[in-house]
Amino acid sequence: MNEDRLIGLAFEAREKAYAPYSRFAVGAALECEDGTVYLGCNIENAAYTVGICAERTALCKAVSEGKRKFTRIAVCGGRMGEDASEYCAPCGMCRQALAEFCGPDFEVLLPALGRETKRFAFAELLPEAFGPENLD
Ligand code: THU
Repeated sequence: MNEDRLIGLAFEAREKAYAPYSRFAVGAALECEDGTVYLGCNIENAAYTVGICAERTALCKAVSEGKRKFTRIAVCGGRMGEDASEYCAPCGMCRQALAEFCGPDFEVLLPALGRETKRFAFAELLPEAFGPENLD
């Protein structure tokens, strides 16, 4: 998929965020190797720790539909009701969740409105990852 389209989908996913407590809305668009894309938003909970991030929502949706190979993810976030004009990098827990399925070259796109999109290879965001190979 065209990169701009993937980024556009992350912004669309952000519209669905359920974040009444933090009022920080995040969207993610996760591209599978077969070209399909799964969207996710953050979903908070009155019992705060139960909340889930946008990236893991997308990952859970994809894996539960049988997808295990991924090429890219686009993530955007910012204060609810405002443009996402700051970069929103995946939190540590999401990086670890992605590490289960994504190799060092998996691409992480961080778009922010009115700014150049930042891009990282996954290995830059989680060097020396602990992954399934460690348990072989
Ligand atoms: N959040 C995400 O969805 N993804 C991240 O990588 C960073 C944080 C969410 C969790 C919480 O609902 C809100 O943003 C504020 O932390």
